[in-house]
Amino acid sequence: MNLDGKVVVITGGGSGIGAASCLLFAQHGANVIVADIDVKSAQKTVAQIIAQKGIAQAVKMDVTDYANVENALDSIVTAYGKIDIMVNNAGIMNSQRAPTAQHTFEDWDRVIAINQTGVFYCLRAVLKHMMDQGSGSIVNIASLAGLKASGHNLAYSASKFAVVGMTKSAAMEYAPYDIRVNAVCPSYTQTPMLDSVVEKQPGIDKKLLRYVPMSRFAEAEEIAEAVIWIASDQTKFITGQTITIDGGLSL
Ligand SMILES: NC(=O)c1ccc[n+]([C@@H]2O[C@H](COP(=O)([O-])OP(=O)(O)OC[C@H]3O[C@@H](n4cnc5c(N)ncnc54)[C@H](O)[C@@H]3O)[C@@H](O)[C@H]2O)c1
Repeated sequence: MNLDGKVVVITGGGSGIGAASCLLFAQHGANVIVADIDVKSAQKTVAQIIAQKGIAQAVKMDVTDYANVENALDSIVTAYGKIDIMVNNAGIMNSQRAPTAQHTFEDWDRVIAINQTGVFYCLRAVLKHMMDQGSGSIVNIASLAGLKASGHNLAYSASKFAVVGMTKSAAMEYAPYDIRVNAVCPSYTQTPMLDSVVEKQPGIDKKLLRYVPMSRFAEAEEIAEAVIWIASDQTKFITGQTITIDGGLSL
């Protein structure tokens, strides 16, 4: 796949699935903008890309702050002339697993702000540039938890169902302008997010694995492969779709 000259913005590019996606896009020749609230982690991803002779730049972006998102994307377009691909990946987990009646308001507000409102803000800000260009491809990172029930996880589940809904609605609205919007829905993936879940509940990884027919968690690189494929021109008649990557878990 040749992505030479493509300008790609990836939120949450400093860690996990976002970092793996940044590296893969760069290996295929893209000019990668690594956007993250944690600018040090974004710079680490950039250093890895540059060490592999790729092209990348770190940008500090908090997806919960619309003015910050808009200014960052405007500056990218001023510098590079366009944004071909945007991957809305930044996301967090609930800080504690609890049934709905015990779900904290703090967790609800934080998770919805980043996972749901953050994706809305990024869509809103990038679509105006893609409309000006007359083209674009957006990939939202949802989750298997956005397609089926998951217990003790209400804000996360609500936010990911919302990401799937926003993906389909925006895809329908912008298809006439040659702008595609798709979602990737991973199940448990080996990243710092999953590590933090296991840290809080030692042994939960073994329990979760029992439900995965392939008996392992996904690697971040396996999710990145799907992201790059669905973002690329190889799938230019596909829009509004979700790709589930779960080792058979949903079966
Ligand atoms: N790891 C899994 O098991 C799994 C499964 C399904 C879906 N996902 C989704 O994949 C995406 C990436 O998850 P991950 O596992 O790589 O997580 P991660 O914790 O490794 O990385 C998340 C990144 O998002 C950044 N971030 C957090 N808040 C931000 C904000 N306000 N603005 C900008 N950046 C912010 C963090 O700094 C971090 O670099 C998330 O949307 C997550 O919900 C993960």
